[in-house]
Amino acid sequence: MEKKNIDWSNIGFGYVQTDLRYVSNYKNGAWDDGCLTEDATITMNECACVLQYAQTCFEGLKAYTTVDGRIVCFRPDLNASRMADSCRRMKMPVFPEDRFVDAVVQTVKANAAWVPPYGSGASLYLRPYMFGYDSIIGVKPANEFQFRIFATPVGPYFKGGVRPLTLRVSDYDRAAPRGTGHIKAGLNYAMSLYAIVDAHEQGYDENVYLDSATRTHIEETGGANIIFVTKDGKLVTPKSDTILPSITRRSLLQVAKDYLGMEVEEREVALSEISDFAECGLCGTAAVISPVGKIVDHGKEICFNIGESGMGDTVKKLYDTLTGIQMGKLTPPAGWVKVIE
Ligand code: PLP
Ligand code: COI
Repeated sequence: MEKKNIDWSNIGFGYVQTDLRYVSNYKNGAWDDGCLTEDATITMNECACVLQYAQTCFEGLKAYTTVDGRIVCFRPDLNASRMADSCRRMKMPVFPEDRFVDAVVQTVKANAAWVPPYGSGASLYLRPYMFGYDSIIGVKPANEFQFRIFATPVGPYFKGGVRPLTLRVSDYDRAAPRGTGHIKAGLNYAMSLYAIVDAHEQGYDENVYLDSATRTHIEETGGANIIFVTKDGKLVTPKSDTILPSITRRSLLQVAKDYLGMEVEEREVALSEISDFAECGLCGTAAVISPVGKIVDHGKEICFNIGESGMGDTVKKLYDTLTGIQMGKLTPPAGWVKVIE
């Protein structure tokens, strides 16, 4: 299979239309067989539930080329189960988890020419999503749904590649207690658009959201969880019912413990204590592990170690170990790496 002629090392995080995408429709209480299609356009009625009431959720995962030339995905079963959680909370029908993984495999195989080569720093980003499709005008869930997965080759999420980020403590909230912060609903991201444009206009890379009930604890950013490293080398990450349970973060906790022998703590993290941490980073599928150089809290700058490479030593170790597992350089824990071909 011949790869597409792309300058893989210089692509950003953008949409590129690839050859085939997966689609399955839900009607009369059942999912159809699903298939791959060349058609990247969706046509729907003006009153479709997703357009009026935002009944939609999504996932994000990546396919990589490993050091020995295989194409793999990282823990797609966890994306399947998180999407099932999102669907249940959004009153959408669950797309069966085994079919989700199979659809991921089909989509990656069909777009194998778009999977960036090993060492390019790029990967094939997969975006599974579901939306309410039929016409709904009274506020209630749709009856018909579409599940899709498209693929797009991507480079680093933050402009300029791996470099220390500057975050600000946001005055806007992302998620309410007992709301939808813990699932991957499109509405959470709609909530964050005003704040991200404002942050960029003020020169920041991202917003750090606080818990909206007390505004005293660190939650996460608009598109990634947060990790901190203490001065004595412990990994600390916020625990909250209103943040997305990041697959990268859950994996990193295990990697830190089992591969690096680190102590790990998942607990509430007060805004007032973050100046005590030595290092900070963002973690997620798109963000991978991005070093944070500074968090600005209303004019007060909290700076973190960024070493000579732009990443603090411990964040770099975590980055090298996690990406080493994803790229086939280190032996993964059982079940973490799904080989596609
Ligand atoms: N938090 C938010 C709000 C996100 O959008 C994402 C991205 O999926 C993450 C965290 C990281 O989650 P994961 O590591 O599963 O990609
Ligand atoms: C991901 O990391 O997959 C996400 O969905 C985050 C998004 C901001 C691109």
